[in-house]
Amino acid sequence: MEWADVMMKRAIKIINVVGARPNFMKIAPIMCEMRKNEKIIPLLVHTGQHYDEQMSKLFFDDLEIPEPDINLEVGSGSQAEQTAEIMKRFEPILVKERPDYILVVGDVNSTIACALTAVKLGIKIIHVEAGLRSFDRTMPEEINRVLTDAISDFLFITERNAQENLLKEGISKDKIHFVGNVMIDTLIRNTDKARQTDIHRRLGLNPGNQILPYGVLTLHRPSNVDDSRNLESILQAVNTLSKEVPIIFPAHPRTRNNIGRFGFSHFFENVEAGTTTQKRNSKGIRMIEPLGYLDFLHLMAESKVVLTDSGGMQEETTVLQIPCLTLRENTERPVTVSEGTNSVVGINRENIIAQGLAILRGNLKLGRIPELWDGRAAERIVKIILKQ
Ligand code: UD1
Repeated sequence: MEWADVMMKRAIKIINVVGARPNFMKIAPIMCEMRKNEKIIPLLVHTGQHYDEQMSKLFFDDLEIPEPDINLEVGSGSQAEQTAEIMKRFEPILVKERPDYILVVGDVNSTIACALTAVKLGIKIIHVEAGLRSFDRTMPEEINRVLTDAISDFLFITERNAQENLLKEGISKDKIHFVGNVMIDTLIRNTDKARQTDIHRRLGLNPGNQILPYGVLTLHRPSNVDDSRNLESILQAVNTLSKEVPIIFPAHPRTRNNIGRFGFSHFFENVEAGTTTQKRNSKGIRMIEPLGYLDFLHLMAESKVVLTDSGGMQEETTVLQIPCLTLRENTERPVTVSEGTNSVVGINRENIIAQGLAILRGNLKLGRIPELWDGRAAERIVKIILKQ
C-alpha cells in the first residue's frame, strides 16, 4: 500500500455543517484549522437555510470560507418544513460519504436537523457551542440546543457554566470540553481587516474624518419581530434614543417584511448607504440592508451602544468592550452579563430608554474578556478531536 493511502486510511473524515448567518463566523476558523491538518479530511455542507447574497455569500467572501462541497439549497419554510427538508436532503449525503463525524455549530434549525439525521445513521456528532441555555422553551433555538446536546458525542463549550447545564441534563462529563469561543477566534482574526472598511464614510458618519457618535440596532427574534405590539414597543424606545444619536439598523429580511406589514415605516429615516449628505447626517433610526461581516464588525467596534436580540452580538460586544443592551427577557450567554458589557433589559419601552440614555451619558459598565476567548478555540477543538 502507498504511504498516501495509509495516511488517507487513518485520516478522519468530518462533514462540517453551516446553514444560517451566525454559523459562518463559527465554522471559518474550524475549517481553516482542519485544512491545515493532514489527519483530517474536512468537507463543508451548506444547507441553504440562508441564501440571500447579504445573508450568506458576503460572509463566505469576507471570511474566506472555502466554497461548500455540497449545497442542499433548502431555503425558507416553517420550522417543520425547513427541518424536515434539511434531513431529507442531508441523509443521502451521509450515506454516500460515510463520514466519521459530523460537526455542527450553534443552535439553528440546520444544527438539529443534521445532527438528528446523523445520529440515526450511527454517525458521531461534534457540537460546537454546546450547553448554552436560556431556559425559555418558547425559543426555537433552545429546543435545538437541548436536543442537539442530548445526541452529541463531543460537546465543546464556550463558558464554564455550560458544563453545569449539561451535567444536570445527564450528559457525561467526559464528553464536555471547555475550549473557548470560535466566534471570537474569527473576531480577533479579522479586527484589523475590518478597521480598513469604509462603512462609516458610506453611511456619512465621518465628516472631516472624525467618526460621529451613533448606535447600532439589530432585531430578528420571532418573539420581538412577529408580534406587532412588541416590535412597536422596541421601535418607540429606539426612536426616542435616536433623537440623541443616529441609530443604524441593518434589518434582517424577516424584520423588514414585518415592518412593512405592520405599517411601521414612519419610524425610519430610510437612508441607504450612499444617499445625500444632508439626509445621511441626520439622526433617527436608519434602516439599511444587512451588512457583511467586516463592515458590521467595524460598525459595532466604533459605536456608542448596541441594541440587539442576537445571541452572538452579546459576545462580540463583550470582546469589543462596547455596551450592549439585550432586548430579551433572558440570555443563554450569562458570562456576557457577569463579566462582559451586556445588560439584559427586556422590551419595556421605558426601561430601554432609561438604560440607553444612561449609556449615552457615559454611565458605562466596564467588562473583562471571558476566560479562553483568546482566538485559539478552533485549535483546541481540532487537538481534542485528534486525540480520540
Ligand atoms: C435563523 C435562526 C436564528 C439565527 C438567525 C440569524 C433558526 C430557528 N433560527 O433565524 O437562530 O439567529 O437565523 O439570522 O434556525 N430570509 C430571507 N433570506 C435569507 C434567509 C431568510 O429572506 O437568506 C427570510 C425569509 O422570509 C425567512 C425568514 O427570513 O422565512 C426567516 O429565516 P429563517 O432561516 O427561517 O430564520 P431566521 O429568522 O433567519
